Amino acid sequence: MSTTSTATRLLVRALARERLPRPPVWLMRQAGRYLPEYRAVRQQAGGFLEMIRRPEYAAEVTLQPVRRFGVDAAILFSDILVPLEAMGMELVFNDQGPLLPKPLRSRAQIDGLRLPEPAESMPYVGEALRLVRRGLPEETALIGFCGAPFTLASYAIEGGTGKTFSHLRALMYHAERDFAALMDKLAVMVAAHLRYQADNGAEVLVLFDTWAGALGGEDYRRYAMPWSRRVLEHLPRGIPRVVFAGTSDHLLEDLATLPAECLALDHRTSLDAAFRRFGASHALQGNLDPAVLLAPPDEVQRRTRALLAVAAGQPGHVLNLGHGVIKDTDPACVAAFVAAAKETSP
Ligand code: CP3
Repeated sequence: MSTTSTATRLLVRALARERLPRPPVWLMRQAGRYLPEYRAVRQQAGGFLEMIRRPEYAAEVTLQPVRRFGVDAAILFSDILVPLEAMGMELVFNDQGPLLPKPLRSRAQIDGLRLPEPAESMPYVGEALRLVRRGLPEETALIGFCGAPFTLASYAIEGGTGKTFSHLRALMYHAERDFAALMDKLAVMVAAHLRYQADNGAEVLVLFDTWAGALGGEDYRRYAMPWSRRVLEHLPRGIPRVVFAGTSDHLLEDLATLPAECLALDHRTSLDAAFRRFGASHALQGNLDPAVLLAPPDEVQRRTRALLAVAAGQPGHVLNLGHGVIKDTDPACVAAFVAAAKETSP
């Protein structure tokens, strides 16, 4: 019968592990401070959270990398920490990154977290998604995302980006029931937020578990994975799910048991080996080292071609970086990365 436009979008087809003439390409943090047009909007808006909360700004910066580079997907401009704010936590961003000035340190604080409906607490997310879809070329996919419960717990408990995660580990190891109570709430919020994004036009959903790699296998399976599984099991059918876990080569066999169609690899994993480990069951996203984009464009192109050669002939490859674009990156290097994917023939 007739093919819907969604079915023809390259990213969605790659996630279904169809054989394609070339891999789709997009970049983690493709909207950001390395783009002069982003910095201009940020200045006009008055700050990062202000951009997120105003749908016309959020939509504009989401669309910028699509316009400039012709990437195959737009990822909503927002942040994994926004739902924590909706749950009642104070959230600020400064030049060093995110800060939660009143981190969770007691059971009473955990019990006090709210579980609001995303449509009521974050209506700007749905509105931004609808605006982006209207501004996107027909062939470009729209991605929604959330932080995984474990990574969100790390921010909520540490109060920012953790180093040793000592507070988090104190809760895990010494107050496991309180830790589980927090993770239960986060899983409910995250699943609701992802469903809300799917309801408003997101056709691929990414779960970012940035700090999962700080855990060894036993701890990951006990303190993080059950809640990621719960989230992924409660998403609308037919929407492809991508799981990213940072520095997680040692966890990939566990991650592959989660109900998700795609594993996003960071750059420490060999793509070649990953295709042998998971190529029969999963689409694989990645995984050029974002630092390589600090090299001259022709070197970026050479390295990207080499990575694509590794994936050649394998269905289900989505070209991306192993982590986010670094803010000192020259946009010409992002252009070279995207061009390398687009020159690939069957
Ligand atoms: O283009 C896109 O990728 C979409 C938007 C997006 C942002 N953050 C915008 C952002 C997405 C998908 C995220 C996810 C996110 N946020 C993650 C998971 C992915 C990952 O990086 O592992 C995490 C851990 C965060 C939390 C966060 N937000 C940190 C640690 C920081 C500071 C680091 C930095 O790069 O400054 C942010 C800020 C942030 N999020 C920026 C952007 C564009 C920079 C903010 C600015 O303009 O000042």
